[in-house]
Amino acid sequence: MSEVRQGLELPKVIVIGRTFDEYVRMLDLTMEDVTRLKILDVPAGACSFAAEANAMGGSVTAADIAYYHSSDDLLKKGKDDIGLAITGISKVMEHYKWDYFRDLEALERHRLQVLEKFADHRKASLESYVPCVLPELPFADGEFDMTVSAHFLFTYADRLDHDFHLNTIRELLRVTKKEVRIFPLVDQTGHKYGKMESLKEFIQGLGWSTEERDVPYEFQRNANSMLRIFQP
Ligand SMILES: C[S@@+](CC[C@H](N)C(=O)[O-])C[C@H]1O[C@@H](n2cnc3c(N)ncnc32)[C@H](O)[C@@H]1O
Repeated sequence: MSEVRQGLELPKVIVIGRTFDEYVRMLDLTMEDVTRLKILDVPAGACSFAAEANAMGGSVTAADIAYYHSSDDLLKKGKDDIGLAITGISKVMEHYKWDYFRDLEALERHRLQVLEKFADHRKASLESYVPCVLPELPFADGEFDMTVSAHFLFTYADRLDHDFHLNTIRELLRVTKKEVRIFPLVDQTGHKYGKMESLKEFIQGLGWSTEERDVPYEFQRNANSMLRIFQP
């Protein structure tokens, strides 16, 4: 089995999704951004951002390694993963802020609704869901106005090394005309990415500017800011 095929094994992919409202808050998006810009969400997982944004007249393309699998398989895996995530969070409740979600039950209900919405939209609009294996993307240079990336870079800094971060960001910038936004800036233990300054120097060397911006969303404690990368 090739390296790529091994990476595509479903048990290795965590299928959990967030809503349009969470995306708007996490990435500090305006309705004008959502309805006027051509946006790439990668890796988009089982989120309903594309479903909800496109229903409002937006143009969001979702990309993820998980999209090599059928919607039915992802739905089944997603339900199992939500159960595992809820059990995991129940053991470290103090690592999370319980205002956006009142309690574990509300969180579970919310995640299951998102998963169903994602699966329905993907079945109806398969062309909006593109399989990809980062750090490479199957899109043309400057194909999107904005690219958003949540809960992948920095979040999994324990298993994605610095070179992977740099190569992925260079690829996100290649397919983007105006702006890339990445949320959050911390790993799963709430610690900020250790090589942020050298990452910013790399980005500036590619001719882009950076800004760390606080956002009006914090579920995991300390996960409350994003990195904006934009044309100076
Ligand atoms: C925690 S989810 C984040 C999904 C979504 N952006 C969010 O905020 O909920 C991480 C996603 O990364 C995807 N993924 C992992 N490795 C990948 C790779 N090399 N290329 C593309 N997607 C990958 C997984 O399939 C999973 O859907």
